[in-house]
Amino acid sequence: MQIQQNISLKRYNTFGIDARAHFFSSFRSIDDLQEVLTHISWPRLMILGGGSNILFTNDYDGMVLKNEVKGISRVKEDLDYVYVKAGAGESWHQFVLHCIENGWAGVENLSLIPGNVGASPMQNIGAYGVEIKEVFHELKAFHIKEKINYTFSLKDCDFGYRESVFKRKYKDQFVILDVTYKLKKKAEYNTSYGAINQELERMGVKELSIKAISQAVINIRSSKLPDPKEIGNAGSFFKNPSIAREQYLQLKNQFPEIVGYENADGTMKLAAGWLIEQCGWKGYRNGDAGVHAKQALVLVNYGNAKGSEIYNLSGEILESVNQKFGVTLEREVNIV
Ligand code: FAD
Ligand code: EPU
Repeated sequence: MQIQQNISLKRYNTFGIDARAHFFSSFRSIDDLQEVLTHISWPRLMILGGGSNILFTNDYDGMVLKNEVKGISRVKEDLDYVYVKAGAGESWHQFVLHCIENGWAGVENLSLIPGNVGASPMQNIGAYGVEIKEVFHELKAFHIKEKINYTFSLKDCDFGYRESVFKRKYKDQFVILDVTYKLKKKAEYNTSYGAINQELERMGVKELSIKAISQAVINIRSSKLPDPKEIGNAGSFFKNPSIAREQYLQLKNQFPEIVGYENADGTMKLAAGWLIEQCGWKGYRNGDAGVHAKQALVLVNYGNAKGSEIYNLSGEILESVNQKFGVTLEREVNIV
């Protein structure tokens, strides 16, 4: 197994930040992983997938291990469901396309999310009315210190909005090796997100299918989210914040156009993109660090921004949103 030293991470993160890793290696199997963890005890170690939800603010003075565990297999099925296991290093979108080709339903709304299968449970990825927890069955993860495998059920992962145990309680303790999803044989279409219906209509779709929904989602996403191959970014930089209903009503009084949705518990979720846009940040640019012109929730690197510049910009945005609306944004991207 090859260990590289002092390499640039620029091509390994979609922000395109030119941070350096002291040590870098990749693994394709549990045996590879055991090998790199058994011989040397790394004081600092991080697992990397597609690098699409990470901001490197400094060089990484430890070992960056890229997960390249591959393979997709149907492990069992019953009357209504197919259980499909995918290696953590598989591309998420390729996995979605594979499901669509086979007629397995449930992940079509999550089309075109960058990154790998292994990171999908990390923040319970979500888009267009669906979250991964709705199709999650179980995952296998390797405990870095104990050096044994654990199986996590849906309940064990404690999924929330852009949250799981792996982002909080067990942060940096496990390597996710594979994930098994429970997909429907008979599709139940979710077009609750307004823009999907509009796009299906525009496409002239007469009969719904998982393929048509996937294509509608791809079209919507491509129209407003920057392609990391063209402009560095990591998707939404902040979470959409939830506030108490009373605070929402006060804000609504002051800012009648404010965009908010009711959560199941009665609190209100605000569109952070709207808050940021109202503070005048949309399309802002300072050097190579900026705020996307079509989506204010997405911070961008036009070329050679440092991670610290993007991070500092996010701090200024946080402060101005707090000052104008009294709402504290939380970063969604993993800061390293
Ligand atoms: P990475 O960025 O490599 O890693 C993310 C975190 O997970 C890191 O802390 C890393 O250490 C850890 N990690 C990764 N793999 C493993 C593993 N196997 N075991 C243990 N820890 C691991 N997200 C959404 O939820 N919804 C969206 O709609 C969405 N849209 C996006 C659009 C764009 C243009 C971009 C660039 C990003 C978007 N994202 C979205 C964010 C991102 O795509 C997801 O969070 C994705 O799941 C990250 O996958 P990754 O493999 O790139 O993870
Ligand atoms: N809005 C503005 N100005 C902006 C951006 C958005 O006013 O600059 C308003 C829009 O008009 C709309 C609302 O905010 O009314 C919501 O915007 P959008 O539909 O683009 O979704 P979002 O809330 O900004 C969330 C997720 C995305 C996910 C989409 C679709 C979070 C943090 N982000 O974005 O996820 O793809 O919904 O479901 O929840 C990601 O996590 O990286 C990500 C891209």
